[in-house]
Amino acid sequence: MNLFRTKSLEQLKASAEEPEHQLKKNLGAFDLTMFGIGAIIGAGIFSSIGTAAAGNMADGRLPAGPGLVLSILIVALICGFTALAYAELASMIPVSGSAYTYAYATLGELMAWIIGWDLLLEYAISNVAVAISWGDYARSFLSTVFHVNIPGWLGMDPRSAMKLVEGAPAMTLSTKLHVLADAKLGVVNGAATFANWEVLKSAPNVAGFPITINLLAVIITVLITWLCYIGIKESARVNSVMVVVKVLILLAVVGLGIKFIDTGNWHPFVPHGWRGIQAGAAIIFFAFIGFDAVSTTAEECRNPGRDLPLGILWSLGICTVIYAAVALVVTGMLHYTKLGGIADPLSFIFTEHKMGSIAAVISFGAVIATTAALLVYQVGQPRIFMSMSRDGLLGPWFGKIHKKFQTPSNATVLTGFLVAIPAALLNIDEVVELANIGTLFAFVIVCVAVLILRKRRPEAPRKFLMPLVWVLAPAGILGCFWIAKGLPTITWIRFVVWLGIGLVIYFIYGVKKSRLQNGDL
Ligand code: ALA
Repeated sequence: MNLFRTKSLEQLKASAEEPEHQLKKNLGAFDLTMFGIGAIIGAGIFSSIGTAAAGNMADGRLPAGPGLVLSILIVALICGFTALAYAELASMIPVSGSAYTYAYATLGELMAWIIGWDLLLEYAISNVAVAISWGDYARSFLSTVFHVNIPGWLGMDPRSAMKLVEGAPAMTLSTKLHVLADAKLGVVNGAATFANWEVLKSAPNVAGFPITINLLAVIITVLITWLCYIGIKESARVNSVMVVVKVLILLAVVGLGIKFIDTGNWHPFVPHGWRGIQAGAAIIFFAFIGFDAVSTTAEECRNPGRDLPLGILWSLGICTVIYAAVALVVTGMLHYTKLGGIADPLSFIFTEHKMGSIAAVISFGAVIATTAALLVYQVGQPRIFMSMSRDGLLGPWFGKIHKKFQTPSNATVLTGFLVAIPAALLNIDEVVELANIGTLFAFVIVCVAVLILRKRRPEAPRKFLMPLVWVLAPAGILGCFWIAKGLPTITWIRFVVWLGIGLVIYFIYGVKKSRLQNGDL
């Protein structure tokens, strides 16, 4: 048994060409760029930007302040190096499965499994965060525009609720709620706002504990899963419309907000120096995840060798320019210290400047933006399951293609459950950090993979070559470590536990059923 046996490039291409695994090939460079932007712009720029600028002292997170624009440019550069590596590999191995597939071709089966398992963090778990953020914005939009008020306890996860309860001084719950509400305390242990306590007070109680659930996050996940189930082209079309809307909304934030910039808010520009910039980078990295999702559609592209690199690089470049401008406007319109703990910072800055209707439009834009991001990951994850199933590392059930819709239907439904259940129950900050560390790990492997293939298969045709590969790929690896170092220790521990669970599953199932091990490929 050789855990480090690799699949050859020829084997990878052949398994994608088996007739029962054929997907419709109807995506071009434009679709892919739209697909990438759809994945990139989402909860990160609409929600996490406030925390990245203002920090979170309760977690020991330093604020980046207006210097967040520097965090954004540094993260973009590091992602850019990785994007070039993705582009080279995707143009060379146009097989869906992304980093998982590239690892199989370079580092061997065990590493491929680890990456496949790790990508669950990037796709499914980051989608959990996006779904939660969607729920938050949808609730505030429904309330400001249609005056439909969804009860707060249907918009809060139980973990956050428990944190609020634990965060208060030792008293019975009802006393705590009473005392705190009466005292109109703004902040409890730096985490619980007065509004949150109101939510807990109105929630149904079981044995003194409030029951809360993130209902809207579940509803949107179910709807998106259905869309993915019925087909990729339909999904791509819906995605393109949503991408146009969200880019326009972000441009409107910049265009309308620029007049309200007070340069006094930019002082001090970098309040906590380099460490603040790193902390900002570790959070705002979430806003960049997604350019790599383009590579998961490789088998649905008409001309993958040319179009994949174009789609990946264009989407990353466009988003970087928009993000940098948004960061300058946000921190220019309001002092960064006022952005902490705000779930909807982009509409909040306009509310603060007495422009409520613009704020409502922006909330609407955020709902659209996060819907598009959800769609891309909900399309990407089942395709990774499918690739793993094709290799025998997961059962055939995971790779089944729907006869009529030609989509990986079982894996799509499974992804729906994997996102909807945690979205109902988990805390968004923890989810974002876990998604970030998982994605950074995948990025490191991709940079390593491009170097290994240059050594092992220098002759293999590549329609796109990463420039200065021996400089930029190592720079990408170091950069990813630098960003990950800004994440809390608990996130590192959770990540290691996650990988441990993955290894157990591999040694129970995949190692025996692998088609490569069994000489079946
Ligand atoms: N980049 C994606 C977002 O910000 C994950 O929602």
